[in-house]
Amino acid sequence: MAILPKGVKHIPGYLDREAQRALVEAIRAVVSQAPLFQPVMPRTGKPFSVKMTNCGSLGWVADQAGYRYQPSHPITGALWPAIPDSLMRLWHEVADYDAEPEACLVNFYADTARMGLHQDRDEADLAAPVVSVSLGDDCLFRIGQTTKGGKTASIRLASGDVVILGGEGRLVYHGVDRIYPATSTLLKNGGRINLTLRRVSRPR
Ligand code: SIN
Ligand code: FE2
Repeated sequence: MAILPKGVKHIPGYLDREAQRALVEAIRAVVSQAPLFQPVMPRTGKPFSVKMTNCGSLGWVADQAGYRYQPSHPITGALWPAIPDSLMRLWHEVADYDAEPEACLVNFYADTARMGLHQDRDEADLAAPVVSVSLGDDCLFRIGQTTKGGKTASIRLASGDVVILGGEGRLVYHGVDRIYPATSTLLKNGGRINLTLRRVSRPR
């Protein structure tokens, strides 16, 4: 495990190939119930380069009206499917947090997709970490400070890697500068999937 700036943790190869394959199957089942949709930036309406969906009791959405968590899919109106058991177990193994995650955001990156530097701060409970799992092609992941600007560090994330944004690092700026196409054979048609598990509401 590597400790990055602000105590962000990177665990390379947390999931072995078999666990990655099983997780891809579970995510395929999620996507068949909750199709990937195209988020857009609030106000400008500019599309993200990633497509997304969610599982869990809440899902993160981005549209003209803003960023928020909601219990249902923005297109189908159906409740999000449940978070796969293997991800619930992973959370309890690494999150060091008693309450269950409520949302798992599924981001799909095609070869040219990227994600600008941002903070994950739409959650009422900032005591819980955000736990990220990478599947498929490698990417260049960048983390910065907890305020805008300043020094950043870049690491390459590979399939099966876990990153934990918690504690002092819960609000670090982070983003994905690029995908390295065809660096993994896990996904038949290439690309990268990132899963982020989040606790949204404060546990009672
Ligand atoms: C995110 O910040 O939502 C995604 C991070 C990643 O793709 O690794
Ligand atoms: Fe994020």
